[in-house]
Amino acid sequence: MEPIESVCLCGAGFLGWQISLQCASHGIPVRLFDISEEALERASEHIRHELKTWTSEEKITPEEVEATLSQVSFHDDLAEAVDGVDLVIEAVPERLDLKREVFAQLDSVCDDATILATNSSSIRISKIEDATRRLDRVLNTHFYNTPWRRSIVELMRGTGTSDETLERVREFMVSIGITPLMVLRKSTGFIFNRVWRAIKRECLHLVDQGVASFQDVDRAWMTLYETPYGPFGMMDRVGLDVIRDIEMVYYEESGADRDAPPKMLLEMIERGELGVKTGKGFYKYPDPAYLEPGFLKGKS
Ligand SMILES: NC(=O)c1ccc[n+]([C@@H]2O[C@H](COP(=O)([O-])OP(=O)(O)OC[C@H]3O[C@@H](n4cnc5c(N)ncnc54)[C@H](O)[C@@H]3O)[C@@H](O)[C@H]2O)c1
Repeated sequence: MEPIESVCLCGAGFLGWQISLQCASHGIPVRLFDISEEALERASEHIRHELKTWTSEEKITPEEVEATLSQVSFHDDLAEAVDGVDLVIEAVPERLDLKREVFAQLDSVCDDATILATNSSSIRISKIEDATRRLDRVLNTHFYNTPWRRSIVELMRGTGTSDETLERVREFMVSIGITPLMVLRKSTGFIFNRVWRAIKRECLHLVDQGVASFQDVDRAWMTLYETPYGPFGMMDRVGLDVIRDIEMVYYEESGADRDAPPKMLLEMIERGELGVKTGKGFYKYPDPAYLEPGFLKGKS
């Protein structure tokens, strides 16, 4: 079985540059493609900035920084970016129509042997795969942000993904320091997003139904699991509009009332309270109450 030795990231946004950096820092040549010149420039800046942080923390030597940077190239021409690569990872915005369009384009410009993967956080490859003519060489590869810290990836097949494709990608992930987790059956939300989603839904309902304050839910979580923030602090970081969109994916699939995003969440979004990015969500930023020394003792 041929190892995967070169990669193209299609979409150079938040996850695109991070996955590229993970590949490059493990010696894999990676080409970053985006339709936006600005996104490519930002991606280059983010990669350099992150490498600087690693150097200052003595996680990497200046020679390793140079070696990593020499593996990355930036492209505004898709055919050039994918020419001869073994794997393309798509990381464009989370819209089914866009993902299908991008997969159709990739299918027409990539070599027959190239494997096409989507980094989607909620769309199953089986909803995208028929935009291509290579059902045996497509799959979900769901990375988490900052993969050098959250070093897991969930791999899920489409209807025709071959064992060889899955095994090549699994070995590749190990080679770039990422632990592959196998999703054994079709699953919206893969593995961990389903766990996190169940937690989120229950926490939101507890507060929406007036059972508890969000601060007490977070206090309980932070105390019992010894974490620096709780589920509501986490939702603020992700963005409450993003939380709503993800809840909607599950709600549209099940149609069950208990899966509908709670009224309280929708009202906050209506008021523009989206979390860290707007300075207010459940907490106020940049100095959220959960960081105050007395928070766990119930002081705010
Ligand atoms: N943000 C996260 O924490 C996270 C975590 C796991 C998975 N994901 C998934 O990763 C994917 C990307 O998310 P993101 O947060 O990096 O998004 P982002 O908005 O930061 O980046 C998307 C990039 O895609 C580019 N793009 C748009 N159309 C394109 C096209 N036709 N061809 C090439 N590039 C195009 C945009 O210019 C942008 O730079 C999504 O499917 C998302 O669900 C995100």
